[in-house]
Amino acid sequence: MSRLLGTWLGAATVLFAGTVAGPAAADSVYFPLDQGVDSATLEQYHHTDQGTRLVPAAWLAALEMPDGSGKVMAPEVLRKYGFLVDNATKTPDNPYAWPVGWTVTEPAKTGGIAIAGFTCAMCHTGRIDFKGRSVIIEGGQPMIDLFPFVDVVSAAFVATATDPVLRKKFFADAIAEGYPADRMAKDFDGVVASLSHLRQATPGAKITLLPGGPGRVDAVQGIANRAFGTDLMIPTNQRDGTAPVSYPYLWDIWRLSWLQYNGFIGRASDSRNIGEVLGTEGQTHFVDAEGRLNPLPLRWQTSIQIRNLQWMEGTLEKLKAPAWPESVLGPINRAKAAKGRALFTANCSGCHGIKTLPDGAWDVTVVPLTHVGTDPNQATNWAGYTYDLSILGLDKATPAYKGVEAAVNAIRRQLYADNDIPASEQQPDIALQAPCGYKARPLIGVWATPPFLHNGSVRTVYDLLSDKRPARFTYGTRNYDPVKLGYTEDKSENDAVFDASIPGNLNTGHWWTDDKKRPGRIGRKLSEDEKFALIEYLKAATYDDYPSEPRAEPIPVACQDQQDWALKAAAAK
Ligand code: HEC
Ligand code: HEC
Repeated sequence: MSRLLGTWLGAATVLFAGTVAGPAAADSVYFPLDQGVDSATLEQYHHTDQGTRLVPAAWLAALEMPDGSGKVMAPEVLRKYGFLVDNATKTPDNPYAWPVGWTVTEPAKTGGIAIAGFTCAMCHTGRIDFKGRSVIIEGGQPMIDLFPFVDVVSAAFVATATDPVLRKKFFADAIAEGYPADRMAKDFDGVVASLSHLRQATPGAKITLLPGGPGRVDAVQGIANRAFGTDLMIPTNQRDGTAPVSYPYLWDIWRLSWLQYNGFIGRASDSRNIGEVLGTEGQTHFVDAEGRLNPLPLRWQTSIQIRNLQWMEGTLEKLKAPAWPESVLGPINRAKAAKGRALFTANCSGCHGIKTLPDGAWDVTVVPLTHVGTDPNQATNWAGYTYDLSILGLDKATPAYKGVEAAVNAIRRQLYADNDIPASEQQPDIALQAPCGYKARPLIGVWATPPFLHNGSVRTVYDLLSDKRPARFTYGTRNYDPVKLGYTEDKSENDAVFDASIPGNLNTGHWWTDDKKRPGRIGRKLSEDEKFALIEYLKAATYDDYPSEPRAEPIPVACQDQQDWALKAAAAK
């Protein structure tokens, strides 16, 4: 138990990257959108334990803000950090009525104590507001500002541990929330002790993290830093997180041939989700308290809930792209959309069209950086950074894709063994890639997922189709612009300014321009009429009318000379 909070707080001190908070919500009327999954299943999906282990749920429920302004988990606080608090009700899956994506374990599974955590839905559920009405986008893009919130929580724990008055009240409240009174002092002091131990153990981790702000996080670097730095207790394995990405949308993911923005993993949902939990406070046992490799099978045993992951993945297979709600956002001009579809077929389908493989999967093209020209960091950090994984029998300079591959394969096999997963349900080992580009996925429902590009550097679809884009914009609000397709720049209590001049935030590439020399040019300048026709089509696009063609076999991921490219990326780091 104590190690759990210790590692979380340790991570928070490293990961804290600013105080920019997410939007506050207005009281809205919710408009229901049918995305193919019923509401009871969704409620369960929103709160299914994936294996993230933060702190005892009763502690989190009892924790007060250090400034005395109230509970940390109070709706007013959570709303500021972009969590979807509205409509939250107490259910068996959500006993504290916390926002979408928060979880509480069954005590029997976690040493008799219910532990708080989070799950897929926290990072993959969006909401769009328009004129007093709100639409929840299941599988969409959230506006959470996760790590600053984590920092608030950790600061609150530190304050509570050191102030006798706060401590006394916290103990009473946590016990009232259900924490066993006889364990309270012992468990809490254990956490504080492990916290100071961890603080001493991390000075090697001098890393820079580019703040993501609302709606972005450097998830992939988070996985590598967590697994190779924190979990292996090798602080010098932490690398700069300079590629915060916009949370991607999840409909149709199960049938895409390549996933993650840079397409580093194929169709291997167990491995993909295991990797994700590794980066989101899943508990591991790679090494003992002295940093020595633990014996087998303990070494690869984790808190990851493989059956729950498979159930959530199955739920996501039923999830459909949201259809533009005309009654909320206004009618679609069908004639204009038809014109837009023709333009889309001529200019966009080559990369974004559906290419159906013989087994029904959709092949997605990974477009090289040299062609699409968008910010390179997500792809180059993944390919270029190396980690000393000699403790695992790997190289002193192992790239992330090799290291994550080894860890995930070992953990997955262990999970299959420990959970008696029959051979017929087991997925094979994965071989990860380090592609030199970003994938162009089908765009059905993309209207609901601003901001755009992998790093969220472009506020509207209109800007994305233009030959000039604002270098700075305000973001954080969920107020929607149905004309240009994106969030507005409306002021909100906690908005932030996006500065696209910072590496990692570059808004370059995917250019539609007549300047043939401009790097990242992918097509000619589009007229205003053409842009708005394309926008109308993106609003209207459905599975039935989206440009689609058969493809006999998958196109290999970009960069045939992958090893060579990765080495070059490493040399540049
Ligand atoms: C802490 C937030 C967080 C949680 C929790 C989370 N994800 Fe993600 N997920 C992300 C981010 C950020 C990315 C983009 C990473 C990248 O490619 O650089 C991502 C990427 C993905 C992708 C790839 C999408 C694409 O278009 O390539 C899938 C699929 C996915 N997540 C599914 C899940 C599932 C299923 C769960 C729960 C088991 C989950 N995620 C939990 C933040 C999260
Ligand atoms: C040469 C291939 C290519 C062509 C042609 C192309 N795109 Fe893209 N598109 C991409 C790639 C690659 C990305 C992802 C880039 C990134 O995230 O950095 C992308 C991203 C996008 C996104 C953002 C998706 C998101 O999740 O944020 C939109 C919207 C988009 N394209 C629209 C279009 C439209 C409309 C057209 C035609 C007018 C078009 N694209 C033509 C390759 C292409």
